[in-house]
Amino acid sequence: MPKIFARVMLFFIILAPSLGASAFEEAPTLRDLAEQNDIYIGAAVYVSHLNDPLFVDILGSQFNMLTPENEAKACELQPRLGQFDFRNFDTLMDFAEEHEMTVHGHTLLWHQCVPSWLANGPFSRDEAIDALRDHIMTVVGRYKGRIAIWDVANETIADDGSGLRDTPWRQWIGDDYVELAFQFAHEADPDALLFYNDYNIESVNDKSDAVYAMVSDFLARGIPIHGVGMQSHMILGQIDPYGIAKNMQRLGELGMQVQITELDVRFEGEPSDQILRRQASDYRRMMETCLESEYCTAFITWGVSDRYTWLRGSNLGFFENPVVAPLLFDDDYNPKPAYDALVEVLTEYAGE
Ligand code: XIL
Repeated sequence: MPKIFARVMLFFIILAPSLGASAFEEAPTLRDLAEQNDIYIGAAVYVSHLNDPLFVDILGSQFNMLTPENEAKACELQPRLGQFDFRNFDTLMDFAEEHEMTVHGHTLLWHQCVPSWLANGPFSRDEAIDALRDHIMTVVGRYKGRIAIWDVANETIADDGSGLRDTPWRQWIGDDYVELAFQFAHEADPDALLFYNDYNIESVNDKSDAVYAMVSDFLARGIPIHGVGMQSHMILGQIDPYGIAKNMQRLGELGMQVQITELDVRFEGEPSDQILRRQASDYRRMMETCLESEYCTAFITWGVSDRYTWLRGSNLGFFENPVVAPLLFDDDYNPKPAYDALVEVLTEYAGE
């Protein structure tokens, strides 16, 4: 090897790791690489984070899909019956459109973030159906043609897969409230893809069997449904890529698109180097599973920087680790090993 090349290589081997930030800035972005692989790479976004220039920079350059973290939920959009407040959602929509990001609308039905008018009622079945229709026609109708995907129903199936979870809409309307929501969303925007979204349905289990059965039933009866979102709030080291692949496959064969919609990888204790490396390999396996499946069309993380992860919220109840670091960027927005792993795997698959 000519000496000059050996020197240049030595320079990169010794100095490149310390180039950190600028190498990151010059490298292809997740967004570029996702586009080469024909998938969306997305993040959930809280409107207030748009005030932070560093956040905005990373969001607009690294991601091509945006999910409103809370801004499209019913208690935010219709706090009083018949009175809608679209300000925050509009801000996110403007940002997404300025940055040519596709919007994953989240969500029309959820048993949390229920406005008090809905929880308290009382409504007759017909009145509740009118209120449901009005909510969906107003929200989906307002953004018609601008939101590619709607999570029509979020977490409506019970944890054990035995049936539907109890919610105010269900109390007032009955079990058909879910299919009515899909029908109204389709009426409001016939071009939007309509998704069912849930947690613990990534792999094959009783709950994902219930989702599979619901999708099959909807299709048999002509209820419009086009995809399933696997939230993927994962625990470090507990990812089952074979089960996920199998589940994606069976849903895909029904005609569904599948998306990883809320990925984060949590752990107990401090984010040591070893933990962050293991986390990177979990991210890699999730991405490989998505890229290997012909039906997986998006890979969305539930936030951008560890600094703002919902998992540090004090009111979660099920998980408490104030130093949990479940996302791709650390508290100071530096890319983590999980980010590097995604770049690597996307690069690998882009060449195929
Ligand atoms: C969470 C948000 O991240 C929090 O900010 C909010 O306080 C509660 O909701 N599954 C979902 C999301 O479908 O809508 C949830 O988002 C996280 C779990």
